[in-house]
Amino acid sequence: MATHFFTASSLDGFIATEEHSLDWLLSRDIDQEGPMSYLQFEKRIGALAMGASTYEWVMRHEDGRWGYTQPTWVFTHRALDVPEGADVRLTRSDIAAVHAEMTAAAGEQDIWIVGGGDLAGQFADGGLLDEVWVQYAPVTLGAGAPLLPRALELELLDVARNRDFLCGRYRVVRG
Ligand SMILES: NC(=O)c1ccc[n+]([C@@H]2O[C@H](COP(=O)([O-])OP(=O)(O)OC[C@H]3O[C@@H](n4cnc5c(N)ncnc54)[C@H](OP(=O)(O)O)[C@@H]3O)[C@@H](O)[C@H]2O)c1
Repeated sequence: MATHFFTASSLDGFIATEEHSLDWLLSRDIDQEGPMSYLQFEKRIGALAMGASTYEWVMRHEDGRWGYTQPTWVFTHRALDVPEGADVRLTRSDIAAVHAEMTAAAGEQDIWIVGGGDLAGQFADGGLLDEVWVQYAPVTLGAGAPLLPRALELELLDVARNRDFLCGRYRVVRG
């Protein structure tokens, strides 16, 4: 069982524009069944965590429908709307406590920190982040939501090209 931060990024390390737009990403070509793709990755996931901005983006993008079947913890200080039947757990609890709940829920499967970057950083702060997977789009944004605003040592485990994207998989080096 491992905890992954899997995300797409601009080449200069932003995962959304300052206005939370992903137009720069969704216009690119990727083979979702191809190397290091989302569909392959998602099969191993038993629990998700995301921050409030990411949750709000997903809800806007999917017209209020919830597409994930796995239990999902959404970190927020607000009483966000949750669609009927969605296994979404709003939380402001301690990261380690939530990670323990996620681990129990995921069973043999892995945990996906969807974003944003600071939330992934909070898991890393607690020594709870094992891998970082980044799909780099061929674009720079100049500003926006940061990929992973922490100083972390990483080991490159794997690399692939998937159409427009340069994909890297890294292990978080601890200690
Ligand atoms: N490129 C990609 O593949 C990709 C992947 C994921 C996300 N994104 C995008 O990247 C952007 C990320 O936005 P963001 O940087 O604002 O990060 P975010 O993690 O999505 O949201 C940050 C918010 O989460 C809540 N939060 C974070 N940590 C918390 C904690 N410990 N306890 C309670 N609440 C906590 C706070 O919300 P409140 O205090 O307001 O409740 C905080 O303002 C979004 O636009 C998202 O759509 C892109």
